Amino acid sequence: MSKELRIAMLGCGFMGRTHSNAWLQVNHFFPREHKPVLKGCYGRQEDLKKLKDFQAKWGYESLETDWRKLVERDDIDLVDVCTPNFMHKDCVIAAAEAGKIVVCEKPMAMNSAEAQQMVDAVEKAGVANMVSFNYRRVPAISLFKQLVDEGRVGRPFHYRAVYNQDYTIGQDVPQGGMSLWRLDSKVAGSGVTGDLLAHSIDTAEWINGPIKRVVAHAETFIKERKHADTGKVEKVGIDDACMFLAIFENGSLGTFESTRYARGRKNYSTMEMNGERGGLYFDLEDPHILQFFRYADPETGKKIEDHLTGWQRIHVTNFEHPYMKNWWVPGCTIGYEHTFIHGFADFLASLEGGPAFQPNMRTAMRTQQVCERVLESAKQGAWIDI
Ligand SMILES: NC(=O)c1ccc[n+]([C@@H]2O[C@H](COP(=O)([O-])OP(=O)(O)OC[C@H]3O[C@@H](n4cnc5c(N)ncnc54)[C@H](O)[C@@H]3O)[C@@H](O)[C@H]2O)c1
Repeated sequence: MSKELRIAMLGCGFMGRTHSNAWLQVNHFFPREHKPVLKGCYGRQEDLKKLKDFQAKWGYESLETDWRKLVERDDIDLVDVCTPNFMHKDCVIAAAEAGKIVVCEKPMAMNSAEAQQMVDAVEKAGVANMVSFNYRRVPAISLFKQLVDEGRVGRPFHYRAVYNQDYTIGQDVPQGGMSLWRLDSKVAGSGVTGDLLAHSIDTAEWINGPIKRVVAHAETFIKERKHADTGKVEKVGIDDACMFLAIFENGSLGTFESTRYARGRKNYSTMEMNGERGGLYFDLEDPHILQFFRYADPETGKKIEDHLTGWQRIHVTNFEHPYMKNWWVPGCTIGYEHTFIHGFADFLASLEGGPAFQPNMRTAMRTQQVCERVLESAKQGAWIDI
């Protein structure tokens, strides 16, 4: 039975676009009972021209420059929070109190105290909720997790995650304003830790289970920048780079590195796992490939013949691979925007009696806590338990 799902989109920037596209596409490829309708979008008064263009381009029925008005409207079923981080808590709590289904971009909040309030609000209201850690739903990363769960890597020894970019190296890059709000700690909460490492941590704990302890170092290379809103040179409060070591509860050792100062790296995210029976490697710049090293047979535990060992590049486009049977034909690749479509396909399925959606806000709060402990450890220069 078909059912309208009336969407309020908060934010008309990068994520506003990826989410609008995903709501429009999801039923074309993953038929669901819920039929998303783009009912209203919010953007700031100062971004009105951009908001109007956004409304016209994606076909929203209405626009608002007051997000509370949109959230409280009776013709809205689901609130999709794609605003900068400092707004997430208020938007999610208001949506939950109005009885709306809530989708929220990552990082979930500015800190874990805020995340706790958000979890309390959605759980008290009993509303379905999801946090958009979309990289879990790159088919090759989903396959990574599947192979680990099938025992093909065996006992894990190491997990290595890197997430590097290069767009803030210049001294003249301001803090604040569109996109560059990420450099303003009052709007972003933290730098690469909340922005990039949160993704790496979410995926790492999904694949390995919980991290037990961390020790970190963070760096702010450029200490002062002009603020785009005030025009004044102000102290920079975010971390430009952060590295940490982790020990997982399963005994595996993790290394995590993230920076926005890696020349030539735009959205370079890799992960590798080394286990007793084999290894796995993924690189987001080669997103349809999963590399797999088979050392031992998962059934017998016996070493496979030497002339058959070696890293194997799996082109993750077969019907048997996660999500791929709903797309084109084997050999045809998909890309970045599809990860959001997969997220909404799974979320809608969960509303229709399918498997519970992950990560929800309670799970994402855990990632927020790990990020906070990493930054605390960087301040103290000491190992910290999570
Ligand atoms: N899942 C992912 O991979 C991913 C990728 C990018 C961003 N994000 C997250 O999505 C959220 C939105 O990021 P984005 O890249 O779409 O941002 P953006 O700068 O492209 O858009 C931000 C939107 O919020 C509105 N806004 C309200 N207050 C603002 C303020 N003080 N400064 C700037 N804009 C303000 C703007 O009108 C704009 O529409 C953030 O929480 C971010 O961390 C997630």
